Amino acid sequence: MSNERTLSIIKPNATKDNNIGNIIARFEKEGLRIAAAKLTKLSKEKAEGFYIEHKERPFFNSLVNFMTSDLVVLMVLEGENAITRNREIMGATNPAEAAEGTLRKLYASGIEENAVHGSDSASSAEREISYFFEKNEIYDRF
Ligand code: CMP
Repeated sequence: MSNERTLSIIKPNATKDNNIGNIIARFEKEGLRIAAAKLTKLSKEKAEGFYIEHKERPFFNSLVNFMTSDLVVLMVLEGENAITRNREIMGATNPAEAAEGTLRKLYASGIEENAVHGSDSASSAEREISYFFEKNEIYDRF
């Protein structure tokens, strides 16, 4: 067991549907703590840079359009095995394959509009957290 930090994004379909509170409540109920948070609208450049590893994928432009279509909540979640725990709580990328009770099963409307993002590894978490947050914006919740 190790205390970790991971990046979480509540995506535009979930903010539009007024599910910000439901999603944050779930993270807290599961024992994850919010170490940083911002409600914001991503620019095209910021969204493209965030998803740069998907640049050659056929869904890239559509994904960037979706991620810039409305507000997002950017958060740093902290807790025991936070990276894996967050991924378990979110469920599979495709909500059709997500387990019952997971955030994507509950709040996604499709594989693109899948309600939440979470870092998939320690190295991604480090890159993604520093992409959106300065060190002095992140609080110790250990
Ligand atoms: P996320 O976990 O944020 O990582 C990449 C995102 O691309 C993913 O969630 C989905 O929003 C989107 N995505 C992944 N696969 C597809 C796909 N086959 N079609 C459309 N969007 C996808």
